[in-house]
Amino acid sequence: MILEVNNITKRFGGLVAVDDVTFSVREREIFGIIGPNGAGKTTLFNVITGFYKPDKGRIIFQGNDITGKKPNEIAKMGLLRTWQIVRPFLGMKVIDNLLVPMYVKKGIIGGITEREAIERANEILEFVGLSHRRDFLAEALPQGERKRLEIARALASEPKLLMLDEPAGGLTPTEMDEVMDVVRKLRESGITVVVIEHNMRVVMGICERIMALNFGRKIAEGTPEEIGRNEEVIKAYLGERFHVGG
Ligand SMILES: Nc1ncnc2c1ncn2[C@@H]1O[C@H](COP(=O)(O)OP(=O)(O)O)[C@@H](O)[C@H]1O
Ligand SMILES: [Mg+2]
Repeated sequence: MILEVNNITKRFGGLVAVDDVTFSVREREIFGIIGPNGAGKTTLFNVITGFYKPDKGRIIFQGNDITGKKPNEIAKMGLLRTWQIVRPFLGMKVIDNLLVPMYVKKGIIGGITEREAIERANEILEFVGLSHRRDFLAEALPQGERKRLEIARALASEPKLLMLDEPAGGLTPTEMDEVMDVVRKLRESGITVVVIEHNMRVVMGICERIMALNFGRKIAEGTPEEIGRNEEVIKAYLGERFHVGG
């Protein structure tokens, strides 16, 4: 197991956003987290990656207790995340969006020349299918490409585990397919992926195991087939008509 999340609870005042959630992720798997809006998915990411402190519970990454560590410390250990609302440096060129995190990392670990950084950035752009956008300003990219730039930026920090918050959110079906291809390639390249995704077609298409949350609680965990026929999951999603197949 690369990540072990044990009994995490996170409250906001009287609201229990994440309620005693436990799950583990195996090395090199694609692990999905689903649930209706407000189920606590993003909050769980924020707790795991150090942006919020949990009220209860423990998080173990590669055998190290990372509970309560700062986001940059956790990132340095190889656990990176993307945001539901993507945050590229819009006024910067695509390539520079990758060089910034590399120079930050260089400042910390040293040992990389400018030339190596540019080479590595070019490789990453190729990997996510954005080579042709190298010298465009990030703000010129359509949403699907911004989502992939977001993944590229995380890759610049060389993650072992990458947590993606709705990488296909707001995309057209074609753009979704492109993101799904990138996620599969991540795993092939040895990166473990935890992905929050609202769209069932995407989740079912890429994940090996899925956990479902509802009102902060874990209501199910299993293979896509098991999740697809789980009564509680179906009930939680009833009324959210745009999910299935969309
Ligand atoms: N910083 C915050 N302060 C107060 N309430 C929050 C905060 N972040 C999230 N919440 C609440 O916690 C619940 C879970 O939110 P969130 O984790 O964003 O859900 P999801 O990502 O599954 O849609 C929601 O009711 C949301 O309003
Ligand atoms: Mg969310």
